[in-house]
Amino acid sequence: MISNKQVLLLSVVIVAVRSIQPNCDPNNQFRYYCLFPVEYCTEFVCSVSKCGHFIINSKLVKIKETQLIPKCAFSNSEDLKYIYGANSEIQVVASGAFVNLPNLESIILSFNLIRELHQGTFKDVGLSLLDLSWNKIIYIPEGAFDGINGLKYLNLSRNELKTLPIQDMPPFLIDLNLSYNLIDRLALKSSRYPNLTQINFSHNILERVALSFETTVHKIDLAHNRLTKIDFFDVLDCEVLEIPSNYFSRVPEFLTYASIKRVSIHPNPWICAELQQLWIHLQNNFINEEPSIIRDQSPICSNTDHTRSSFTNVYHSERDCADDSHCPENMICRALKCWDPCKEDACDSTSICNVNNHRFSCSCPGTLKRDPKTIYSSCLDIECFSNEDCKGEKLCHSNNTCINISDINSNYGPSSSYGAPSDFAPAPAVYEYQEEPWWFYEIPKIAPSIRKSKQLM
Ligand SMILES: *[C@@H]1O[C@H](CO)[C@@H](O)[C@H](O)[C@H]1NC(C)=O
Ligand SMILES: *[C@@H]1O[C@H](CO)[C@@H](O)[C@H](O)[C@H]1NC(C)=O
Ligand SMILES: *[C@@H]1O[C@H](CO)[C@@H](O)[C@H](O)[C@H]1NC(C)=O
Ligand SMILES: *[C@@H]1O[C@H](CO)[C@@H](O)[C@H](O)[C@H]1NC(C)=O
Ligand SMILES: *[C@@H]1O[C@H](CO)[C@@H](O)[C@H](O)[C@H]1NC(C)=O
Ligand SMILES: *[C@@H]1O[C@H](CO)[C@@H](O)[C@H](O)[C@H]1NC(C)=O
Repeated sequence: MISNKQVLLLSVVIVAVRSIQPNCDPNNQFRYYCLFPVEYCTEFVCSVSKCGHFIINSKLVKIKETQLIPKCAFSNSEDLKYIYGANSEIQVVASGAFVNLPNLESIILSFNLIRELHQGTFKDVGLSLLDLSWNKIIYIPEGAFDGINGLKYLNLSRNELKTLPIQDMPPFLIDLNLSYNLIDRLALKSSRYPNLTQINFSHNILERVALSFETTVHKIDLAHNRLTKIDFFDVLDCEVLEIPSNYFSRVPEFLTYASIKRVSIHPNPWICAELQQLWIHLQNNFINEEPSIIRDQSPICSNTDHTRSSFTNVYHSERDCADDSHCPENMICRALKCWDPCKEDACDSTSICNVNNHRFSCSCPGTLKRDPKTIYSSCLDIECFSNEDCKGEKLCHSNNTCINISDINSNYGPSSSYGAPSDFAPAPAVYEYQEEPWWFYEIPKIAPSIRKSKQLM
């Protein structure tokens, strides 16, 4: 029985804790809680943990199916390089989830159901790639990326973002991918993002764009938006600019003076006389036209201004879906449209992609297997990576062949789950399962359903 006094005390503690940085000492880590399953690999072996704990020298942690990544789920691991949780049904990433991971290289959480990012999710995380594409993110607050050091590649493609904290993104970005969102205006400058060279805002609803770069930018992709002009374009040097499938009908002023090497301009509802002017400008400014792929037979220009409305219908149809259930069974709903993940290369080319009830899976044909110790392993013709791959009394040797147990030298000892006999890693420490960690009630939003399932346990 919990007395009122205790409840009061508990809430005081929680309020006090909220206002400070997460305290991820070992007793507070979610690793102990058994709704957060992971598979983790050191340099040599992989193991599965139902309760989310991984040994401290893990190099790679793969998140299994879970609704949330809780506070302190990943903390204080100097060796951890990759956190991989694509296609894992994740809905919530709690603030304080990623703490003190100085040598991390990538966090990949694509193909999940994350709706928003929180402030303080990252603290002292060295990170080069953050992939949150194919989620359902509608909102990113200022400060959401604070605590990440040196992020270079940020993929937020295929979400439902209407705005961005554009003055508050990681400063050393090289590649910013926001294709397939719902953003209507964009202003970017090199004084804030000196290293940005790839900018992809294609397939949004942009109407207003201002770009100011005193640096060379490799690619600016603004295709499939609602642009009739670009409000401000002052880019020292742009290698490729993409503006197909917008509403350009007249020569956009910036194209007459901008320093651009290649531009792709079709399809757009150009007025023929204007298009001729544009060609002359491009030629005089040594701007090459990228060959365009025009799929239908529609003309590249017309003599009237009426083409725009027909373009509207073709390129900017209304929303198809709000969630997966509005799509056919073999499709998923992202950025308000239904997509077949297998057609969008959700699996690599060596895998067999399958969609079942809006969930896709990537399996290996026949007896081919993936190397669990890497993130993007293709399907390989290898006898075993782990003892589970070997039948009967056999174990997996470090040369990836199954060996009769009787042929194995007794000093190989017992095997851990993915262990190659000669490569035994120290057995992971066994953590005690803690009933209900103190921070449990801090998990935002998702808590009700989780609590319900916990009662059933
Ligand atoms: C940004 O670019 C500058 C020079 O262009 C380079 O010195 C610096 O290391 C880059 N920063 C990061 C974090 O990559
Ligand atoms: C997201 O972008 C990164 C870096 O540009 C890329 O490596 C990754 O494959 C992209 N994600 C998907 C799901 O395509
Ligand atoms: C942007 O992300 C999408 C994932 O939707 C990926 O297919 C594409 O290659 C990425 N583009 C760039 C330039 O990184
Ligand atoms: C931008 O992203 C879209 C889809 O995500 C992709 O098809 C396109 O190639 C990208 N553009 C560039 C210039 O890489
Ligand atoms: C793998 O190692 C075992 C034990 O040393 C040996 O018997 C076997 O021939 C090796 N297999 C290959 C393919 O090298
Ligand atoms: C494996 O060892 C057992 C004896 O422990 C033996 O009966 C069996 O034939 C062996 N199998 C192979 C494939 O060598």
